[in-house]
Amino acid sequence: MEIRRDSGARPLNLGLAGFGTVGRGLARILDENRDNLKLRSERPIRIRSILVRDPARARACPFPPQAKICADMDDLIRDPDIEVVVELMGGLEEAGRLIRGALEAGKHVVTANKALLAEEGGELFRLAARRGLHLGYEASVCGAIPIVQTLREGLSANRILTLFGILNGTSNYILSAMTSTGMSFDLALRQAQELGFAEADPSMDTEGLDAAHKLTLLIRLAWGVDYPFSLLPVEGISRTAPEDIGFAREFGYNIKLLGYARLEAENSRGRPRLEAGVFPTLVPRNYLLASVGDSYNAVRVEGNAAGSVFLHGRGAGSLPSGSAVAADILQIARGARPNNLGYVLPELPQAEILPPQETSASYYMRLTVLDRPGVLRDVAAVLAGNDISIAQAIQRGQKDVVPLVIMTHATTPVNAARALAQVKATGVLFADPVCYRVMPPSA
Ligand code: HSE
Repeated sequence: MEIRRDSGARPLNLGLAGFGTVGRGLARILDENRDNLKLRSERPIRIRSILVRDPARARACPFPPQAKICADMDDLIRDPDIEVVVELMGGLEEAGRLIRGALEAGKHVVTANKALLAEEGGELFRLAARRGLHLGYEASVCGAIPIVQTLREGLSANRILTLFGILNGTSNYILSAMTSTGMSFDLALRQAQELGFAEADPSMDTEGLDAAHKLTLLIRLAWGVDYPFSLLPVEGISRTAPEDIGFAREFGYNIKLLGYARLEAENSRGRPRLEAGVFPTLVPRNYLLASVGDSYNAVRVEGNAAGSVFLHGRGAGSLPSGSAVAADILQIARGARPNNLGYVLPELPQAEILPPQETSASYYMRLTVLDRPGVLRDVAAVLAGNDISIAQAIQRGQKDVVPLVIMTHATTPVNAARALAQVKATGVLFADPVCYRVMPPSA
């Protein structure tokens, strides 16, 4: 096919904030895939300016030759030739100022900033809607995986029933490495940091906060409601031991850090009642999600019309995240109408959150106990007293202190927590109990 070299169309000028991993990936894609992009948009896409903290700092990767380098965000906001501000610097305060300033100046925005959109997104989306501007954020959830587009467009005619996601590559890398080699959490985390996909503060990854930011954005897209980030139950993987991975395997599961959301029903005003959270979860080993290894991300969405849809891919990295940023920019270059959230209302209502006593799950419990007569009886009595039925149990080891591992039938998180507190109070435990949810078999 002959590729037109110059359409004569007005270029789409970008003001790029940040020239780190994703910014460099974007620049490379715009350069190396230029011919492909020309087939998809009349308007050539150009990086006009790049905002960096220290323009004089020597860099291994040179700036694109035509770009102006600046250190003041007003240089992007005030430049009348810049139509799109691409925010790839991360953080809350400065990035928030830049995005607000750009929208107020009438510029479209594309960002990979999941923390900002999860915590302060409501206000920014309202501002973009008022001004009729794009606020693109495909790269902020699961890097290259087009899950924003999928929920906003491809599955938009569905009532979404459930959403399960491996939303954080670092924690998936850690759990996968622990599963395949038996290595410790600390060693696996060090490897993930060396590979460069952990957040600057890796506790964002390992404590589940990064996944929770992404889940907040996915809930908005799937159900058209704001689920306040601060109310989302979040638990990380930093206490997961190789022995939990081993016991889970014996029961037929892999442990994954899952972001989870489920529509229970609509309330009387038609607003969705949701159960959601981020939890280390035992996933049956024959499920696709259980075999998502390395630092890959995956999302499984179930729509009432489409059935189950599974997306898998690179959740971070220079080119994978750059690919998602470039796709958002391309939509703007093509003159698409802004459709940032996928809903008519510019202001989304707050989600109705299902109270924990109305939810249920089966649990994996690892109790470190003294191997003495009556311990199992006492633990079983506490569980029975909280209406928890034991499905399977393993106790293994020759020492005085041994792991007693129990898989329960479905119970409420309230009962599970109360039972564990009561077991602790009996004085039989030698370490804090470990308790993980099991992904429901029907899911
Ligand atoms: N630290 C994130 C992860 C990168 O490990 O998935 C992209 O959000």
